Amino acid sequence: MRYQQIPNTLFIENRNRFIAKMKPNTIAILTSNDIKHNNADDVMDFAQNNDLFYLSGINQEETILVLYPEAYKEENRAILFVKETNEHIKIWDGEKLTKEEAANISGIKRVEWVNDFETLLQYMAFEADGFYLGHNEHIKRVTKDQETRQDRMITWCKQKYPLHHYYRAAKITRELRPVKSQEEIDLIQKAAAISVESFYSILKAVKPNMKEYELEAELIYNLVKSGAKRHAFKPIVASGKNACALHYNTNDAICKDGDMILMDFGVCYANYNSDTTRCFPVNGTFSKRQKEVYSSVLHCLKEGSKLLKPGITHIDYEKNMATLVEAELIKLGVLHADEVANQDPERPLYKKYFMHGTAHYIGLDVHDVGLYRTIEPGMVFTCEPGIYIPEEGIGCRLENDYLITEKGHINLTEDMPIEIEAIEALMNNKKEQ
Ligand code: GLY
Ligand code: MN
Ligand code: MN
Repeated sequence: MRYQQIPNTLFIENRNRFIAKMKPNTIAILTSNDIKHNNADDVMDFAQNNDLFYLSGINQEETILVLYPEAYKEENRAILFVKETNEHIKIWDGEKLTKEEAANISGIKRVEWVNDFETLLQYMAFEADGFYLGHNEHIKRVTKDQETRQDRMITWCKQKYPLHHYYRAAKITRELRPVKSQEEIDLIQKAAAISVESFYSILKAVKPNMKEYELEAELIYNLVKSGAKRHAFKPIVASGKNACALHYNTNDAICKDGDMILMDFGVCYANYNSDTTRCFPVNGTFSKRQKEVYSSVLHCLKEGSKLLKPGITHIDYEKNMATLVEAELIKLGVLHADEVANQDPERPLYKKYFMHGTAHYIGLDVHDVGLYRTIEPGMVFTCEPGIYIPEEGIGCRLENDYLITEKGHINLTEDMPIEIEAIEALMNNKKEQ
């Protein structure tokens, strides 16, 4: 494994928290994701199902977790099913997890081969009244033509056991996952530390006329070297006006002297993610206007992030952030105070220059799952205000990751330079790292 093994107490505690929310006499079945194909026999990098990982720590395909806390026989209360290897798999793909390794990673004593799943479940299904099944319920999930392993499990289980009750495992995991354990916070912090290192390399590497993807290359070199698995998402390296397209990621333009670059990038380490955005001038010195826009966004980040603390609702936080950005847009001369005073409150004018939310959970998913609720200690949020002025070819967003504490928050990305003077000094080699 690329990362230091996560203490299995995390997964044991996660299972205990999950079980405490299950209805009486029910069985939970969580499955891994499929290995997905591009074309022909070319496959995508495997991404584990995050609910399964949260409850087991297993990163291997064809894994099933069964939890039946009220099973009559103690040995049936938690069973992990993993893929049985053979000589063919060994020769082509290398080693797969042994039962002992899977037991050690997950803290689950009973590990069986996945081919025995249906037979073993049969013994338990008769005794139980219902099933919790996993499903990706994300609002943006495209269902057409994208049948998942979870979908197949739902179809199979309902067909085989039509008279049981069915419940949504996601309802429970989405309640639990927003509040992080110390082990999870440490992993997000580690991912953030790799992002910080990468940013220093970026500042050293950037020069006029290089291609945006050359900076993307610095990121991948740094994260792989540090034992991370992959980018948290395809990084955005957007110079000049490209920064005004929020999800620009072709990264194939030339970084021109005089332009500012927006880089939104993250690291996935041990399945946990960081998500940060920084902006910097291609030639090492911000222009007067770039400085003005950058300072406005930095002000919103500094003031807006202060609101990320226990007791505030996500909606109130976003409203306050919008008010901050609106005031800066007036200061920048992009909006006029009188137009704003008379605007239709349902269609505020700032949306033309600032059109996205500024805080999302972060964890096993970059946009981590969980219903938004009043902010609590242990939650981890990004804070990412931005101002985009296409007519001036300037887009600026700044993004940090914050752990909510009893008293306020801790900035997990504190070490990533953000002040204008610090960035210019680093770019112009005026200051040692
Ligand atoms: N890059 C995705 C985000 O910042 O939310
Ligand atoms: Mn981001
Ligand atoms: Mn983000």
